[in-house]
Amino acid sequence: ASGVQRGDDGQIAVQGLGVSQLAQDHGTPLLVLDEDDFRARARAFRDAFNEAFADLCGGVDVYYAGKSFLCTAAARWVAEEGLRLDTASGGELAAALRAGVDPAHIGLHGNNKSDAEMCRALDAGVGRIVVDSLDELDRLAELAAEAGTVAPVMLRLTPGVHAHTHEFIATAHEDQKFGLSMSGSLAGQAGQAVARALAAESIDLRGLHCHIGSQIFEAEGFGVAARKLLGFLAEIDAEHGVALEELDLGGGHGIAYTAVDTPRPPADIATTLASVVRAACVELRMDCPRISIEPGRAISGPAAFTLYEAGVRKTVTVDGPDGETHPRRYVSVDGGMSDNPRPVLYEADYSVALASRTSSSQAVLSRVVGKHCESGDVLVRDAYLPEDVGRGDLLAVPATGAYCHSLSSNYNMLTRPAVVAVRDGTARVIIRRETEDELFARETGL
Ligand code: LLP
Repeated sequence: ASGVQRGDDGQIAVQGLGVSQLAQDHGTPLLVLDEDDFRARARAFRDAFNEAFADLCGGVDVYYAGKSFLCTAAARWVAEEGLRLDTASGGELAAALRAGVDPAHIGLHGNNKSDAEMCRALDAGVGRIVVDSLDELDRLAELAAEAGTVAPVMLRLTPGVHAHTHEFIATAHEDQKFGLSMSGSLAGQAGQAVARALAAESIDLRGLHCHIGSQIFEAEGFGVAARKLLGFLAEIDAEHGVALEELDLGGGHGIAYTAVDTPRPPADIATTLASVVRAACVELRMDCPRISIEPGRAISGPAAFTLYEAGVRKTVTVDGPDGETHPRRYVSVDGGMSDNPRPVLYEADYSVALASRTSSSQAVLSRVVGKHCESGDVLVRDAYLPEDVGRGDLLAVPATGAYCHSLSSNYNMLTRPAVVAVRDGTARVIIRRETEDELFARETGL
């Protein structure tokens, strides 16, 4: 996060607040969120995309993907910064509504929305429901008709672009649970959904949606998907005489977890994408639909770091690729896969720094591990930490704002960490640490 620096006293500080004080006040593990940085990243997406697309479609609606990090405070921040909010369940929808987000600025996603979730969205008057399948389209049409209302709908299509971290492969990739297949075009699944949605009186078909993946660095994948969906919009217009008004290009903008990651700034992605969209609209002789995007990780991820306290150390001897044996230092911290399951789930790489002081001792190859009863409970696989790092030292793992708190668990009955937001040099607890009593709050006692 931009407000994080090492101070003169050798400690890492966020907006001048040293980590030792933060740890003393709030305990560890602690998710430290630079709220100003979060807000600045939200504005950067808003401004970059609005500028790049201003003359094409009047602007872009940026929906913050709440699944990456959501609480009522975060929902308020994005609304205050002029973003909208993408929710993916009844719970996320509740967070948006409790935060007072304008329902017209809320979207609801999900590949298996329950009747209750769809009814709640209709009842609240959300701006869009992104429909994932033919089954769901039919069910939503019924529910909206029963409620005497009209559901604003986007159809999620799979444009056959399968994006990986550093590359994208244009394939007919459809073998996944999300979205309506575009193969067969108007005669296929997506085409059928469009025809049914247009025919249903309780459905207001607003446009098309796609999401090609996550942690994507290149704009090309987004461009290929945009081109395919614009082509499909043109086909729909030719067949049905309807120019659908909206096109959502999803989220997935990558961030730097370690020094090897080189994400492109939002302005770069926006201008590249705008030129693809402009060219496609000229070629297809169509007006550019209203564009929307759904970044999550790129807003919340880099804005936070997790502060841990180091405990037990041990050193083992491992065989190196050179055939020689090498020492490896294990440093255990007071959290782990319960507050950040990403390394276990995705083999995600993180970096780590000694945060509470500097050290002149030699850097040694270390592995930072959690305290869970699982050997895979690794936070940082390979890191160089000063040899004298040990009990009581604070370690900071950067870029943990996205998909850490939202994926956190109580594994081994650990209580979930507090989240502290720093704004204008002041730290506020936005989510307090879970208590031991809360671990038993759902038990009936029987
Ligand atoms: N829109 C849709 C429809 C999505 O499914 C997602 C993420 C996003 C937007 C936001 O993507 P983002 O900009 O945050 O990459 N737990 C995984 C990531 C799962 C992403 C799920 N969908 C992780 O920790 O890497």
